[in-house]
Amino acid sequence: MRVAMIGTGYVGLVSGACFADFGHVVTCIDKDPSKIARLEQGEIPIFEPGLDDLVETNVREGRLSFTLDGADAIRKADAVFIAVGTPSRRGDGHADLSYVYAAAEEIASLIEGFTVVVTKSTVPVGTGDEVEAIIRKTNPNADFAVVSNPEFLREGAAIGDFKRPDRVVIGVNDMKGDVGTRASTVMSELYRPLNLNESPLLFVNRRTSELIKYAANAFLAMKITFINEMADLCEAVGADVQQVARGIGLDKRIGSKFLHAGPGYGGSCFPKDTIALVRTAQQHGAPTRLIETTVEVNDSRKKAMAGRVEKTLGTSVANKTIGLLGLTFKPNTDDMRDAPSLDIAPALIAAGARVQAFDPEGMHEAAKLLDGVEMKSDAYEAVLGADAVVIVTEWDRFRALDLDRVKLLMKQPVMIDLRNIYRPEDMRAKGFRYSGIGRG
Ligand code: UGA
Repeated sequence: MRVAMIGTGYVGLVSGACFADFGHVVTCIDKDPSKIARLEQGEIPIFEPGLDDLVETNVREGRLSFTLDGADAIRKADAVFIAVGTPSRRGDGHADLSYVYAAAEEIASLIEGFTVVVTKSTVPVGTGDEVEAIIRKTNPNADFAVVSNPEFLREGAAIGDFKRPDRVVIGVNDMKGDVGTRASTVMSELYRPLNLNESPLLFVNRRTSELIKYAANAFLAMKITFINEMADLCEAVGADVQQVARGIGLDKRIGSKFLHAGPGYGGSCFPKDTIALVRTAQQHGAPTRLIETTVEVNDSRKKAMAGRVEKTLGTSVANKTIGLLGLTFKPNTDDMRDAPSLDIAPALIAAGARVQAFDPEGMHEAAKLLDGVEMKSDAYEAVLGADAVVIVTEWDRFRALDLDRVKLLMKQPVMIDLRNIYRPEDMRAKGFRYSGIGRG
């Protein structure tokens, strides 16, 4: 099959490379000349484990290419994917669909032969209808179907998630009709390699598919927020949140994943998608109060994290040196979007602290966003002379720190572990004043 992928952001680039690896011929299209130039040189603009090799192999084998001018690729494509950004609209939190609609307009006049236009971007319910109307208006004779195919991959584990998904959701209207049948056939063919690992393709109508994406992210965000509140309760009553998580997670109806208590969820998806779902629900007169509360609780949690440093220190952070380990919203990514560090560092600085930090991949992005934070070249430099060290992101390399060396380098051995990567009893045995999340 021939695929045109509009947008070489996270989702577009990973999906394009994976479809090429499935054996399809993929052209990735982007309006940003510097991005395309870098990709053509084999330079990957984001950090994602395994992506550089996947891109390199598929470019070399002639299945993957990058271009600024996608007209030819769109004309020849069996499927054109829209994988552009849908950021939160400033002011009201609705998803900004201007890039999606611009892509639809661009595609419309180029359609030749039957083409499936697939929205892969996370888009609110009803966006597919609008995309269809735009194409129909511009090119009334076009032979096409608009399909929703949301993406569930996680940053840092994106390739595995794409190739071994729990499910692939495909939203096609009028599935039994002529256009619907042809569209379903194209989508099944695109994902055929997944038959091997028995990942189910779930065919539903388009609006249902669009909502499944938001419902999944909102549910996961709520699950994290639930365990974070349980963590606070554990601290108040002297219980252990990791054991609570295990105790409830072994119940298969609950499941053990996404029950790690921490500083609050961040990233490019949960914060934006939960707010967008809240807005959609309000607009349709069916408010989702659980999600409204989730958003509020998570926002205030991130803001409250800096306070934990003072609590553990037992004194104000004014004129103290605080070392932050990890800045990205989670490990194995360089993504800083809505990262808890963006609340924690400024709050510490505002309270008079000197903040020094290290992140294995996120320093470049972080330096643009975190005014006044001194970036250090490794973890040991970041703890040098510190009155307290805060584990903000659970990168593997912070799990294996030489704690004796850390202790020697610090002014005093105080650790606030917002990801529970160390055991309280071990840390106390090492002579640290230590606090984790939800562990008494
Ligand atoms: C999330 C979803 O997990 C993906 O399924 C989805 O495709 C993606 O959004 C998207 O919509 O594009 P992602 O944002 O990459 O993926 O990262 P997650 O691994 O889900 O983590 C999100 C946030 O939740 C992070 O800040 C992480 O630290 C936090 N988290 C996650 C916890 O605090 N506890 C957990 O148990 C799990």
